[in-house]
Amino acid sequence: MIKPLLLSLLVTAVIAVPQSGNCRCRPEDSCWPSQKEWSALNNTIHGNLVAVRPVASVCHQAEYDAKACSTITGLWSDSAWRSSQPGAAQWENWEAWPERNQSCYVGSPQNAVCGQGRISLYSVKAHSASDIQQAVRFASAHNLRLVIKNTGHDFLGRSTAPESLQILTHGMTDVQIVDDFVPKRSVKSEGPAVTIAAGVQLPQMYAAVAKHNRTVIGGSSHTVGIRHILQITHG
Ligand SMILES: *[C@@H]1O[C@H](CO)[C@@H](O)[C@H](O)[C@H]1NC(C)=O
Ligand SMILES: *[C@@H]1O[C@H](CO)[C@@H](O)[C@H](O)[C@H]1NC(C)=O
Ligand SMILES: *[C@@H]1O[C@H](CO)[C@@H](O)[C@H](O)[C@H]1NC(C)=O
Repeated sequence: MIKPLLLSLLVTAVIAVPQSGNCRCRPEDSCWPSQKEWSALNNTIHGNLVAVRPVASVCHQAEYDAKACSTITGLWSDSAWRSSQPGAAQWENWEAWPERNQSCYVGSPQNAVCGQGRISLYSVKAHSASDIQQAVRFASAHNLRLVIKNTGHDFLGRSTAPESLQILTHGMTDVQIVDDFVPKRSVKSEGPAVTIAAGVQLPQMYAAVAKHNRTVIGGSSHTVGIRHILQITHG
Protein backbone atom coordinates (compact mmCIF):
# COMPACT_ATOMS: atom_id res chain seq x y z
CA MET A 1 0.00 0.00 0.00
CA ILE A 2 1.04 3.57 -0.45
CA LYS A 3 2.34 4.87 2.82
CA PRO A 4 0.04 7.21 4.72
CA LEU A 5 1.51 10.61 4.12
CA LEU A 6 2.53 12.83 6.92
CA LEU A 7 2.19 16.19 5.42
CA SER A 8 -0.50 17.52 3.25
CA LEU A 9 0.70 20.71 1.71
CA LEU A 10 -1.81 20.85 -1.02
CA VAL A 11 0.01 21.80 -4.11
CA THR A 12 -2.50 21.06 -6.79
CA ALA A 13 -5.70 22.74 -7.63
CA VAL A 14 -8.38 22.83 -10.22
CA ILE A 15 -8.36 26.08 -12.08
CA ALA A 16 -11.90 27.28 -12.08
CA VAL A 17 -12.78 29.42 -15.05
CA PRO A 18 -16.32 30.54 -14.33
CA GLN A 19 -18.54 30.24 -17.39
CA SER A 20 -21.81 31.47 -15.91
CA GLY A 21 -23.48 28.07 -15.72
CA ASN A 22 -22.02 26.59 -18.92
CA CYS A 23 -20.54 23.14 -18.66
CA ARG A 24 -17.03 22.38 -19.86
CA CYS A 25 -16.59 21.08 -23.35
CA ARG A 26 -16.58 17.26 -23.52
CA PRO A 27 -15.09 14.89 -26.10
CA GLU A 28 -18.45 14.13 -27.71
CA ASP A 29 -19.32 17.83 -28.08
CA SER A 30 -18.76 19.77 -31.29
CA CYS A 31 -16.68 22.31 -29.33
CA TRP A 32 -14.05 19.62 -28.56
CA PRO A 33 -10.73 20.49 -30.29
CA SER A 34 -9.98 18.69 -33.56
CA GLN A 35 -6.82 16.62 -34.06
CA LYS A 36 -5.43 19.59 -35.96
CA GLU A 37 -6.04 21.88 -33.01
CA TRP A 38 -4.43 19.46 -30.55
CA SER A 39 -1.44 19.23 -32.91
CA ALA A 40 -1.25 23.01 -33.04
CA LEU A 41 -1.11 23.07 -29.22
CA ASN A 42 1.56 20.37 -29.35
CA ASN A 43 3.65 22.54 -31.69
CA THR A 44 3.52 25.49 -29.31
CA ILE A 45 4.89 23.35 -26.46
CA HIS A 46 7.77 21.64 -28.30
CA GLY A 47 5.98 18.30 -28.77
CA ASN A 48 5.33 17.79 -25.07
CA LEU A 49 1.62 17.03 -25.42
CA VAL A 50 0.72 13.44 -24.62
CA ALA A 51 -2.57 11.59 -25.09
CA VAL A 52 -2.99 9.96 -21.70
CA ARG A 53 -4.22 6.51 -20.79
CA PRO A 54 -4.42 5.14 -17.25
CA VAL A 55 -1.06 3.58 -16.31
CA ALA A 56 -2.62 0.12 -15.99
CA SER A 57 -3.95 0.18 -19.58
CA VAL A 58 -1.02 -2.02 -20.62
CA CYS A 59 -2.54 -4.81 -18.52
CA HIS A 60 -5.82 -4.98 -20.46
CA GLN A 61 -7.37 -6.05 -23.75
CA ALA A 62 -5.84 -4.68 -26.96
CA GLU A 63 -3.31 -2.56 -25.06
CA TYR A 64 -2.00 -5.60 -23.16
CA ASP A 65 1.78 -5.80 -23.07
CA ALA A 66 3.08 -8.52 -20.73
CA LYS A 67 6.43 -6.87 -20.03
CA ALA A 68 5.01 -3.37 -19.51
CA CYS A 69 2.22 -4.79 -17.35
CA SER A 70 4.72 -6.59 -15.17
CA THR A 71 6.70 -3.36 -14.74
CA ILE A 72 3.57 -1.40 -13.84
CA THR A 73 2.51 -4.09 -11.37
CA GLY A 74 5.85 -3.70 -9.58
CA LEU A 75 5.51 0.08 -9.48
CA TRP A 76 1.80 0.22 -8.62
CA SER A 77 2.34 1.21 -4.96
CA ASP A 78 5.36 3.43 -5.61
CA SER A 79 4.14 6.90 -4.75
CA ALA A 80 7.24 8.64 -6.19
CA TRP A 81 6.68 6.92 -9.54
CA ARG A 82 2.97 7.79 -9.40
CA SER A 83 3.84 11.44 -8.91
CA SER A 84 5.72 11.44 -12.22
CA GLN A 85 3.03 9.78 -14.35
CA PRO A 86 0.39 11.76 -16.29
CA GLY A 87 -1.84 8.66 -16.19
CA ALA A 88 -1.73 7.98 -12.45
CA ALA A 89 -3.07 9.67 -9.35
CA GLN A 90 -1.36 9.43 -5.98
CA TRP A 91 -4.27 7.39 -4.65
CA GLU A 92 -5.80 4.95 -7.07
CA ASN A 93 -9.37 5.65 -6.00
CA TRP A 94 -9.09 9.03 -7.77
CA GLU A 95 -8.33 7.25 -11.04
CA ALA A 96 -11.73 5.60 -11.14
CA TRP A 97 -15.01 7.26 -12.14
CA PRO A 98 -17.60 5.16 -10.30
CA GLU A 99 -20.55 7.13 -11.70
CA ARG A 100 -19.52 5.87 -15.15
CA ASN A 101 -18.32 2.48 -13.95
CA GLN A 102 -14.88 3.31 -15.28
CA SER A 103 -11.72 2.07 -13.65
CA CYS A 104 -8.43 0.51 -14.67
CA TYR A 105 -6.53 -1.54 -12.12
CA VAL A 106 -3.50 -3.80 -12.46
CA GLY A 107 -5.28 -6.46 -10.42
CA SER A 108 -8.38 -6.79 -12.59
CA PRO A 109 -8.56 -9.47 -15.30
CA GLN A 110 -6.76 -8.96 -18.59
CA ASN A 111 -10.06 -9.06 -20.47
CA ALA A 112 -11.58 -6.29 -18.29
CA VAL A 113 -12.10 -2.99 -20.06
CA CYS A 114 -9.59 -0.32 -19.01
CA GLY A 115 -11.83 2.68 -18.44
CA GLN A 116 -10.28 6.16 -18.64
CA GLY A 117 -12.01 7.07 -15.37
CA ARG A 118 -10.91 10.42 -13.95
CA ILE A 119 -7.55 10.29 -15.72
CA SER A 120 -7.01 13.36 -17.92
CA LEU A 121 -7.27 12.80 -21.68
CA TYR A 122 -4.28 14.96 -22.54
CA SER A 123 -1.28 16.17 -20.62
CA VAL A 124 1.03 19.09 -21.23
CA LYS A 125 4.36 18.00 -19.79
CA ALA A 126 5.43 21.51 -18.97
CA HIS A 127 9.03 22.61 -18.93
CA SER A 128 8.57 26.36 -18.84
CA ALA A 129 6.18 29.12 -17.90
CA SER A 130 5.44 29.49 -21.60
CA ASP A 131 4.27 25.84 -21.85
CA ILE A 132 1.86 26.53 -18.99
CA GLN A 133 0.61 29.73 -20.60
CA GLN A 134 -0.08 27.87 -23.85
CA ALA A 135 -2.01 25.17 -22.01
CA VAL A 136 -4.10 27.67 -20.07
CA ARG A 137 -4.87 29.67 -23.21
CA PHE A 138 -5.86 26.50 -25.07
CA ALA A 139 -8.12 25.34 -22.23
CA SER A 140 -9.69 28.76 -22.03
CA ALA A 141 -10.24 29.06 -25.80
CA HIS A 142 -11.91 25.63 -25.98
CA ASN A 143 -13.64 25.71 -22.58
CA LEU A 144 -11.82 22.58 -21.43
CA ARG A 145 -11.62 21.30 -17.90
CA LEU A 146 -8.08 22.01 -16.77
CA VAL A 147 -6.20 20.39 -13.91
CA ILE A 148 -2.72 20.86 -12.57
CA LYS A 149 -0.67 17.92 -11.44
CA ASN A 150 2.47 18.86 -9.62
CA THR A 151 2.86 15.61 -7.71
CA GLY A 152 -0.72 14.45 -7.35
CA HIS A 153 -0.31 14.63 -3.60
CA ASP A 154 -3.82 15.83 -2.99
CA PHE A 155 -6.11 13.94 -0.65
CA LEU A 156 -9.15 15.41 -2.40
CA GLY A 157 -8.12 14.20 -5.84
CA ARG A 158 -7.98 17.68 -7.36
CA SER A 159 -4.97 16.91 -9.53
CA THR A 160 -7.12 14.87 -11.85
CA ALA A 161 -10.60 15.22 -13.33
CA PRO A 162 -12.64 13.38 -15.96
CA GLU A 163 -12.22 14.50 -19.58
CA SER A 164 -9.68 17.12 -18.66
CA LEU A 165 -6.47 18.61 -19.96
CA GLN A 166 -3.68 18.23 -17.46
CA ILE A 167 -0.68 20.46 -16.88
CA LEU A 168 2.04 18.28 -15.42
CA THR A 169 4.72 20.38 -13.72
CA HIS A 170 6.80 17.40 -12.62
CA GLY A 171 9.54 18.22 -15.14
CA MET A 172 10.15 21.71 -13.76
CA THR A 173 12.92 21.12 -11.29
CA ASP A 174 14.96 24.31 -11.16
CA VAL A 175 16.30 25.24 -7.71
CA GLN A 176 17.96 28.58 -7.04
CA ILE A 177 19.65 29.41 -3.78
CA VAL A 178 20.60 32.94 -2.78
CA ASP A 179 22.41 34.13 0.32
CA ASP A 180 20.71 37.43 0.35
CA PHE A 181 17.08 37.42 -0.66
CA VAL A 182 15.57 40.84 -1.25
CA PRO A 183 11.87 40.68 -2.11
CA LYS A 184 10.63 42.74 -5.04
CA ARG A 185 9.81 46.33 -4.06
CA SER A 186 11.83 45.99 -0.88
CA VAL A 187 15.32 47.08 0.05
CA LYS A 188 15.64 44.85 3.07
CA SER A 189 17.38 41.49 2.79
CA GLU A 190 15.50 38.55 4.26
CA GLY A 191 18.65 36.43 4.38
CA PRO A 192 19.29 33.12 2.66
CA ALA A 193 16.44 31.71 0.58
CA VAL A 194 15.63 29.17 -2.07
CA THR A 195 13.34 29.62 -5.06
CA ILE A 196 12.05 26.40 -6.58
CA ALA A 197 10.24 25.55 -9.78
CA ALA A 198 6.78 24.00 -9.77
CA GLY A 199 7.87 20.35 -9.98
CA VAL A 200 10.46 20.28 -7.20
CA GLN A 201 9.71 17.75 -4.50
CA LEU A 202 10.94 17.89 -0.92
CA PRO A 203 13.84 15.39 -1.23
CA GLN A 204 15.19 17.22 -4.29
CA MET A 205 15.07 20.52 -2.47
CA TYR A 206 16.69 19.15 0.70
CA ALA A 207 19.53 17.67 -1.34
CA ALA A 208 20.03 20.88 -3.32
CA VAL A 209 20.25 23.14 -0.27
CA ALA A 210 22.39 20.63 1.65
CA LYS A 211 25.09 21.02 -1.02
CA HIS A 212 25.27 24.64 0.12
CA ASN A 213 25.35 23.60 3.78
CA ARG A 214 21.84 24.94 4.27
CA THR A 215 18.68 23.48 5.72
CA VAL A 216 15.03 24.13 4.88
CA ILE A 217 12.38 23.26 7.39
CA GLY A 218 9.73 21.55 5.27
CA GLY A 219 7.84 18.30 5.59
CA SER A 220 8.82 14.66 5.53
CA SER A 221 6.68 13.17 2.79
CA HIS A 222 8.80 12.47 -0.26
CA THR A 223 6.10 13.08 -2.81
CA VAL A 224 5.10 16.52 -1.62
CA GLY A 225 5.86 19.23 -4.10
CA ILE A 226 6.59 22.35 -2.19
CA ARG A 227 5.98 25.90 -3.23
CA HIS A 228 6.75 29.37 -1.95
CA ILE A 229 10.08 31.00 -1.53
CA LEU A 230 11.50 29.50 1.61
CA GLN A 231 13.78 30.95 4.13
CA ILE A 232 16.60 28.67 4.97
CA THR A 233 19.01 28.32 7.82
CA HIS A 234 22.67 27.43 8.00
CA GLY A 235 23.01 23.68 8.35
C1 LIG B 1 3.30 15.73 -29.86
O1 LIG B 1 4.43 15.80 -30.65
C2 LIG B 1 5.40 14.80 -30.36
C3 LIG B 1 6.65 15.08 -31.19
O2 LIG B 1 6.35 15.23 -32.50
C4 LIG B 1 4.80 13.43 -30.65
O3 LIG B 1 5.73 12.42 -30.34
C5 LIG B 1 3.55 13.26 -29.81
O4 LIG B 1 2.93 12.04 -30.11
C6 LIG B 1 2.58 14.41 -30.07
N1 LIG B 1 1.45 14.33 -29.16
C7 LIG B 1 0.20 14.10 -29.58
C8 LIG B 1 -0.85 14.02 -28.52
O5 LIG B 1 -0.09 13.92 -30.73
C1 LIG C 1 -19.08 -2.24 -14.62
O1 LIG C 1 -17.92 -2.74 -15.25
C2 LIG C 1 -17.61 -4.08 -14.95
C3 LIG C 1 -16.26 -4.41 -15.52
O2 LIG C 1 -16.12 -4.01 -16.86
C4 LIG C 1 -18.74 -4.98 -15.49
O3 LIG C 1 -18.48 -6.30 -15.15
C5 LIG C 1 -20.06 -4.52 -14.86
O4 LIG C 1 -21.13 -5.27 -15.42
C6 LIG C 1 -20.31 -3.04 -15.07
N1 LIG C 1 -21.48 -2.62 -14.34
C7 LIG C 1 -22.38 -1.79 -14.85
C8 LIG C 1 -23.49 -1.40 -13.92
O5 LIG C 1 -22.31 -1.36 -15.99
C1 LIG D 1 30.11 22.69 3.81
O1 LIG D 1 30.68 22.31 5.05
C2 LIG D 1 31.76 21.42 4.93
C3 LIG D 1 32.16 20.98 6.35
O2 LIG D 1 32.30 22.08 7.19
C4 LIG D 1 32.89 22.08 4.14
O3 LIG D 1 33.95 21.18 3.98
C5 LIG D 1 32.36 22.51 2.78
O4 LIG D 1 33.36 23.24 2.08
C6 LIG D 1 31.12 23.38 2.92
N1 LIG D 1 30.55 23.60 1.60
C7 LIG D 1 30.09 24.78 1.20
C8 LIG D 1 29.51 24.83 -0.19
O5 LIG D 1 30.08 25.79 1.90
